[in-house]
Parts: sequence; structure tokens; C-alpha cells
Amino acid sequence: MNDDIQTILYSEQKIQDACQRLGQQLTQDYQGKKPLVICVLKGAVPFTADLIKQMDLYMDIDFIDVSSYHGGTQSSGDIQMVKDIDEDVSDRDVLLIDDIVDTGHTLAYLKELLKKRGAASVRVCMLMDKPEARQVEGIQADYVGFNVPNEFLVGYGLDYQGKYRNLPYVGILKPEIYQD
Ligand code: PRP
Ligand code: MN
Ligand code: MG
Repeated sequence: MNDDIQTILYSEQKIQDACQRLGQQLTQDYQGKKPLVICVLKGAVPFTADLIKQMDLYMDIDFIDVSSYHGGTQSSGDIQMVKDIDEDVSDRDVLLIDDIVDTGHTLAYLKELLKKRGAASVRVCMLMDKPEARQVEGIQADYVGFNVPNEFLVGYGLDYQGKYRNLPYVGILKPEIYQD
């Protein structure tokens, strides 16, 4: 699997440093609150697992699964709810965690959904932001680990056809991998 990677963009160490920095900031910002942390399946699993360990707060954790890429390299813009959360979000301070904001379709859909359900606040923490790929205007994260170039990335939650999520770093695939 590692042999399929052309370049490592964010090493395991860099990612852990970002988790520590974001975790400290979130610990300050949510002091005295008990946020409902929502992990966006499947891509946000590694980031959520590492980030919450850096947050010194009482919290609830829930999971939502929406999908737009349907396994390919391009966002379809058509968001499908695969699995909803179990918790009631009304009057909760919701912290949405995802691996990347790309076109912004996923984030726009989720923010709208949570506000409509009556969340007291909705903030978003993303490991990566790819501003050049944005298709939905005004959609941005409140907390960002890295601003990333407009390349197709894999690893640390990000997949290509379901693979590479378990890489401990984020990298770029060798071009021949998605040419076949
Ligand atoms: C990817 C990624 C984000 C979303 C970002 O998820 O993990 O959730 O797309 O893209 P956008 O800003 O263009 O909407 P995907 O839909 O591939 O599902 P997955 O997390 O299960 O891989
Ligand atoms: Mn995702
Ligand atoms: Mg995906």
C-alpha cells in the first residue's frame, strides 16, 4: 500500500502536532461546555480519534455518514444520508469534525441540517481545507489543520475507492494508480 504513494504531504508527526494545537484551542473555546462532537464517517475517523484525545472536556460523541464522492475522485454534489446521528442536537453546542472541506457540498449540507434541527451552535473542525476547489460560496471551517493544494489526496481517512484510509500520513498517489 505504501508503495502506491508518490509524495507524503503531511507526515504522521505533522498531523499529530496539528491535533495537539487544535485540541488545545478547542479545550479553551469550549471551556465549561459539553459539546456534541459529530464525526463524519468514514473519512473523519482517524482525525476524530486523535483530536478528541487532545481535548480536555466532557463531551458526547456521535457519528453521521453522508457520501458525495461515491468512491471516485470528483464530488458529485449530490449528498446522500447513509447513517444519521442518534443524539438530539437541539440546544447542543455541536462540533462537526471532518477530514477535508473540498467543494463544500458536504459541509453546507451538514451545517444546514444541524441548524434546522435547532443546535445552539455549530462549529466545524477540519484537518484540511482545499479552498481552490470550493463550489459552495461562503462555506468554511472554524478550525483548520492545513490549507492544502488542489490535488487528489489520500491517507489518514481520505480514500481512493475505499483504500488508503489507514495510512498514518496524507499523500499523493502515483498517477499510474488511478490511470488503470
Ligand atoms: C469526502 C471527505 C469529506 C467530503 C468533502 O467524503 O471525507 O467528507 O468528501 O468533500 P466536499 O467538500 O467536496 O463535499 P466522501 O463523501 O468521499 O465519503 P467518505 O468520508 O466515506 O470517504
Ligand atoms: Mn467524508
Ligand atoms: Mg471518500
